[in-house]
Amino acid sequence: MDVLVLGGGGREHALCWSLERAPSVDRLVCAPGNAGTAEVAENRDVDATDPAAVVALAREVGADLVVIGPEAPLVAGVADALAEAAIPVFGPSAAAARLEGSKAFAKDVMAAAGVATAGSWTGTDPDEAIAALAGFRPPYVVKADGLAAGKGVRICADEAEAAGAIEEAMVEQVFGEAGRRVVLEEFLSGPEVSLFALADGRSARPLVAAQDFKRALDGDGGLNTGGMGAYSPVPAVDEAMVEGLSASALTPVVAELEARGTPYTGVLYAGLVLTSAGVQVLEFNARFGDPEAQVILPRLETDLAELLAACAAGELASAPALSWDERACVTVVLASGGYPGAYETGKPIEGLDEAAAVPGALVFHAGTRRQGGQVLTAGGRVLAVSGRGATIAQARATAYRAADAIHFEGVHRREDIAAAPTGASDPTAAEQA
Ligand code: AMP
Ligand code: GLY
Repeated sequence: MDVLVLGGGGREHALCWSLERAPSVDRLVCAPGNAGTAEVAENRDVDATDPAAVVALAREVGADLVVIGPEAPLVAGVADALAEAAIPVFGPSAAAARLEGSKAFAKDVMAAAGVATAGSWTGTDPDEAIAALAGFRPPYVVKADGLAAGKGVRICADEAEAAGAIEEAMVEQVFGEAGRRVVLEEFLSGPEVSLFALADGRSARPLVAAQDFKRALDGDGGLNTGGMGAYSPVPAVDEAMVEGLSASALTPVVAELEARGTPYTGVLYAGLVLTSAGVQVLEFNARFGDPEAQVILPRLETDLAELLAACAAGELASAPALSWDERACVTVVLASGGYPGAYETGKPIEGLDEAAAVPGALVFHAGTRRQGGQVLTAGGRVLAVSGRGATIAQARATAYRAADAIHFEGVHRREDIAAAPTGASDPTAAEQA
């Protein structure tokens, strides 16, 4: 089949890498892509968030399947436009993607589906919100309902700070429309892990768990980022737990959205907190995680295109069984200096071939572009360097060995990715490897 992938980050390079290896794929096109996707697919300079432009491109290349990587095209209704044009699409409709786009909507769906999640209050009146704080204990969690570029969640030490966060969101409207409605939430304490599932509108099939590292600096310091690294598997989340969560949290959400007339097709990404009282769902996202995709997809042995096409057709039940590489995978993000704040681009990247030559390593591009014979930095997160190995410690050593070979001016990475995997019998064992 001929496949069109939308997006241009590290996740999309991992998707293209996996699809290019899939026996069922004849032709692979990526829009807009990056210097890495250009090595495994045909890049096309088309705006992935423009529904009409995407439909035109899909028609032109005769796509049998369109795979949507990031959330922006989902929110923009690209999946709806493709469905309308009778082009098979992997990715939820704008209505179903509200699971990620509106925290209040996600809470409502979780409540209706009986999913274990933090207790919450939702409303649009600032005075009522401040009064509702009395129903919670510190630390207070104040969330803008809509998408706020990763800045919409405030963890507040006391009631005064929480009231300030409510004022900023609802009265000063620092997040614009996204903060008109707020969600107050019980604070959940414990390690965060991500679990992914494929959904075809009617049913879900769990993939595997991964853990990402959201903060910019070692020891979980600094600002929140899109993710500075990840590893999979997560020792704390075994197969039995994945099956249990599939039945208690993933399948019920797919069933609830089907019952509401907005069936969910695509990746269902559950952000989980492993609390001392059990697993709670923190949030749902409507796509693969980035950089989690860069550790999950290298482990998948099954033909990815067949799986995603089966979801698009509503026939996940008849898709091939999932087969996983038993090896672990760790990815280390190389970012531009200053990210997630201001940073410069256009820096030449050295050592890409040397890194790729490290046995077990895979170099995924994120913010890169090719100019003449050179690959230049073109974004905040520039590369995700993945390593595979028999253990997480060995995969980690491979990822860092490959990352060591790469240089560009101002490069920043964390040194502690997967150093102490959650649930490992000796969480420091990886450090000694
Ligand atoms: P979100 O934008 O929903 O992904 O939240 C960003 C981050 O805020 C999460 O990854 C958590 O680390 C933290 N967070 C959100 N909600 C809670 C909560 N109820 N309890 C504890 N931490 C939370
Ligand atoms: N790595 C977190 C995310 O993709 O949202």
